[in-house]
Amino acid sequence: MELKGKVALVTGGAQGIGKAISEILLKNGAKVSLLDANIPVGEATKVDFEQVYGAANILFLPCDVTSENQLKDSFKKTLEKFKRLDIVCNNAGIYDEENWEKCLSLNLVSVIKATHLGIQHMSKETGGAGGVIVNIASIVGLIPFLTGPVYAASKHGVVGFTKSMALTCFEKHGVRLHGLCPVFVDTALLVDLKSVKISGHKEKLQTMINKLGVLKTADVAEGFLRLATDQTRTGAMMKVIGNGKFDYEAEPPGLLPATQ
Ligand SMILES: NC(=O)c1ccc[n+]([C@@H]2O[C@H](COP(=O)([O-])OP(=O)(O)OC[C@H]3O[C@@H](n4cnc5c(N)ncnc54)[C@H](O)[C@@H]3O)[C@@H](O)[C@H]2O)c1
Repeated sequence: MELKGKVALVTGGAQGIGKAISEILLKNGAKVSLLDANIPVGEATKVDFEQVYGAANILFLPCDVTSENQLKDSFKKTLEKFKRLDIVCNNAGIYDEENWEKCLSLNLVSVIKATHLGIQHMSKETGGAGGVIVNIASIVGLIPFLTGPVYAASKHGVVGFTKSMALTCFEKHGVRLHGLCPVFVDTALLVDLKSVKISGHKEKLQTMINKLGVLKTADVAEGFLRLATDQTRTGAMMKVIGNGKFDYEAEPPGLLPATQ
């Protein structure tokens, strides 16, 4: 899929992985609606991007994705400004095992709501042009995670939801659905992941980090770009592993959606 002139909505786009994804979209000629709950950082990112990519191509919308009304309003404002929507990246997420219901609400429930909104606005069934939705999961959406059972549950949930919806979504709506599952990434969230206090767990987490490696946000953005533009892998879950290499999760034959 050619990105020039396309419109993308990215949640949690103010910093970290979402910022890198927003930038690779802008670099490739797309317009970006950047949603984030952190208003000062979101505004600063918008100003940075405007200087390089032009004010006409960026919209920053303060939005707490756990609020259904704010999410709906952000989709509406994106369409009002750019007149179309082709790409949704559900990226906003947190690590919070203490306030675990918030973690599930943000990492999973909001992703489900925004996926439905994305389909609703892009569906060929209702006059849209189709498109692509990439949900940011994690490698711990595919494997166990000792120091973050709730975080892992939220990410397994994102993978299961995305794969299951993908079985019919393209055929019905012309919307490709994908999950992106990076190993550890050098962002503020990694600092939170490392704040684990249970005795013995810190060392085990460090062993896992040493084994899997730490990516740069740009590595994840490259994986996103591949998923967003490659129209031959409908429904694929991509792992972004050491040194920014990509790999696709193997599915049992017969359980994948039809490719385009
Ligand atoms: N950093 C890692 O090691 C890693 C690895 C795999 C997957 N991920 C996933 O990548 C995604 C991005 O994380 P990151 O590492 O860039 O972290 P980050 O903390 O740098 O960025 C997260 C962004 O989400 C925003 N956000 C938080 N709560 C929000 C809310 N309620 N509404 C709207 N925006 C909100 C934050 O303000 C921030 O801009 C998350 O889903 C995370 O789980 C991260």
